[in-house]
Amino acid sequence: MPKNEKEKLKAPQLLRGMKDILPSEQKYWEYLRNKISSFLQDYGFKRIDTPILEESSLFIRSVGKGTDIVDKEMFSFIDQGGDNVTLRPEGTAPVARVYIEHGMVNQPQPIKLYYMGSFFRHDRPQAGRHRQFHQFGFEVLGDNHPVIDTQVIMMTYNLYKELGLDIVMQINSIGCPACQEEYKKVLTDYYKTRRNSLCEECKKRLLKNPLRLLDCKQEDCQTLATGAPQIVDHLCEECHEHFVKVLEHLDDVEVPYNLNPRLVRGLDYYTRTAFEVWPGKMDEKQASQSALGGGGRYDQLIENLGGRPTPAIGYAGGLERLINKIKEQAVSVPEVKMPDIFVAQLGDLARKKSLKLFEELRKSDLQVYETFSKDGMKEQMATANRLGVRFTLILGQKEMMDGTIILRDMESGIQETIDYQKIIAEVKKRLARWGVNNNINNKT
Ligand code: HAM
Repeated sequence: MPKNEKEKLKAPQLLRGMKDILPSEQKYWEYLRNKISSFLQDYGFKRIDTPILEESSLFIRSVGKGTDIVDKEMFSFIDQGGDNVTLRPEGTAPVARVYIEHGMVNQPQPIKLYYMGSFFRHDRPQAGRHRQFHQFGFEVLGDNHPVIDTQVIMMTYNLYKELGLDIVMQINSIGCPACQEEYKKVLTDYYKTRRNSLCEECKKRLLKNPLRLLDCKQEDCQTLATGAPQIVDHLCEECHEHFVKVLEHLDDVEVPYNLNPRLVRGLDYYTRTAFEVWPGKMDEKQASQSALGGGGRYDQLIENLGGRPTPAIGYAGGLERLINKIKEQAVSVPEVKMPDIFVAQLGDLARKKSLKLFEELRKSDLQVYETFSKDGMKEQMATANRLGVRFTLILGQKEMMDGTIILRDMESGIQETIDYQKIIAEVKKRLARWGVNNNINNKT
């Protein structure tokens, strides 16, 4: 068979680094989407959805040339109209664009926005790293008060705690561009004399982006980073004061944190407060590579993108990593609602009537399941049992003639014949009674 014929026959496969979210996984997603949305709404955040595709220059100008994301990981292409576009690798730059484009600077500040959705990075696929992944994020734009930093960090901490997870907050300040300029010189001097011990990648970083030397995961580089000068010792007076206030407020609200002088984040737009959420009970190297999320201030970003000077801060967490932790730490998650009732039928006439009955039950807010195309009662009852429904409604030839329906209690196996016209009221009454009894039983 010619090669292209064979290729035609080959079943299509999932792209490397991508993941299907199957029905069995949906309970985690549904639970988290609901929980996170209502949590953020409680703090006054409004939802925003931005397109998945943006101009490439948005990310190049914000995340920055020289970062792994821009240099190696963006899904960029020239579209049919000749525009250079990119599948969004993160959500902060699009929010900054929205803030400028929709004149949000003219609304009362701060503006609080949150988002949830798919993001794309051409990362090397491995545990906790996908090429399409999901983030939730929230941003506070238009306020530079340190209490905002504290609130954002406190909210982040509370969210993971309320989800029942063991985490450690990592905090640092990376100062403003003036402090960073000064610090980069000190850092470069430190590393220059130790250049031979650096990995190849870090030798390049030394020239392009010396701050990133601090969070290289290679063993020798980590050892060197431990002894490197710390940015907190090189903050200008204002940045120092700002950071001290953030920490004081955090102590006041009793949020535990670890001051981490090597935390620099992998995106260029950050200034001042930077923080990450690491899973607890893990060695430092492992934890830093499996961060549940990260955030920080980006006081220059909006101005750099052409807006008015607007200080801002935010956070984004990975949903795949969060779900993995929830599973690992055996946090209980509610099941997606299962049907209460199964409709079974025998014969063509009953099949037609059960189609109508299904609609009536659904419109009465009951969760119903069916297998209309099946004929055998045994098979239909097996499905009802597998689903764990509370009642099965059976329509056969006799019931069709009599204007009745059989109601089978799936727990006791008792079957009763009920007037067809009264079945919905009867089912609702019994489900309500059963719900109450069941709650009492669960409590005792
Ligand atoms: P980030 O640290 O690049 O920050 O990403 C945040 C989180 O997204 C990571 O900690 C991780 O949980 C998840 N994540 C990132 N890449 C992947 C991947 N390839 N596979 C699975 N999960 C991944 C940002 O994106 C900033 N925009 C956060 C921010 C918001 N800063 C201020 N506001």
